[in-house]
Amino acid sequence: MSTRTSASTDIYVRNAWYVAGLSEEFEPEELNQRVITEKAIVVWRARAGEVVAFDDRCCHKRMPMSAGRFIEDGLLECAYHGLCFNSAGQCVRIPSQPGLPIPSRARLRRFPVIEQDGVVWLWPGDPDRVGDVRPPPTPELVDPAWEHISGTMEVAANSVLMVENLLDVSHFYPLHASNIGKAESSTVPMQLETGQINGCNFVRSSRTAHNYDQSTDFCDMLGYAVADSYSAQTMVGPGIVLAERALWPPGKIGDNASRRALMNYHMMTPIHRGAHVYRWVVNMPAGQMSGRFPSVKSLERAREILSSVFAQDIWALERQQKACERPDEGFEEMFLKTDSAVSRGRQVLYAMQEADRSSSTAAPR
Ligand code: FES
Ligand SMILES: [Fe+2]
Repeated sequence: MSTRTSASTDIYVRNAWYVAGLSEEFEPEELNQRVITEKAIVVWRARAGEVVAFDDRCCHKRMPMSAGRFIEDGLLECAYHGLCFNSAGQCVRIPSQPGLPIPSRARLRRFPVIEQDGVVWLWPGDPDRVGDVRPPPTPELVDPAWEHISGTMEVAANSVLMVENLLDVSHFYPLHASNIGKAESSTVPMQLETGQINGCNFVRSSRTAHNYDQSTDFCDMLGYAVADSYSAQTMVGPGIVLAERALWPPGKIGDNASRRALMNYHMMTPIHRGAHVYRWVVNMPAGQMSGRFPSVKSLERAREILSSVFAQDIWALERQQKACERPDEGFEEMFLKTDSAVSRGRQVLYAMQEADRSSSTAAPR
């Protein structure tokens, strides 16, 4: 594969699964608007329970359907002239011309949706390109043996900058020096793995360390000031990075009883080339307690510590985005040995972008 040095902000993938929200965000017959890859999309949970998504433009005069309302039988009524649509997006009533046949093209354009493991995924690209690709599993989110906290924020940076940040632990020092970061964390040897999960390419960078001095804040969240540890960041397509960390007392690696764990889902949903919605979910085994405050749950310590970590990342990304928007004038990024996962991830995303270009330009149906 060729090495590309242009900016991550050049990458913009449409044919991929992106997170529209966690299942708990979608109440029955409540209208939600999402903007994903520049497309305004109306999303709702139909009366039968299925989450559906359509182009947020009425097929009549482009009134946003997200401004409409539900009437009898789960029908969505447009706020402008009252055309009514069922949960398949088909128009079933035109108030101004009762008795006349409803044209077959009086329907909303539908986007593919998969609800899986507590997450609603949406494919904003060409529905014909979905094929066998499915979103990756997120089993901890629906497993009662795990607990989670989550948050959502809008970031004024291309989503690929966030993906690359998450694949790259060499920035823990100095960016996160005030909380989870230590200069030594980037010197632990990294394993790089690639493959497919549910038909989508993944890139994983992982590290195993023995007798490792944890940063104070990892010790606070997970216990064990000195530990054996395993950590991995797995990018699955452009929409999610799964970040896991497990600690054991020295010499006990692999032992279930003494294992302390953290599984973070980082979900990136592009709004446009210069902004994305960032959703995070922090999962921890139910009842896991802080190492520093034994009466406080690890998850509560994580809420405090990781909020400042995420704010530091966003501080950096928004500055990178602005720098990427200036003329290059011959500038070329330099890749270090520690950037191998970022580099491989970028190759995967460039290939997906190329596939977008060869895709039919047909609008979603
Ligand atoms: S724009 Fe929706 S009914 Fe006219
Ligand atoms: Fe970071």
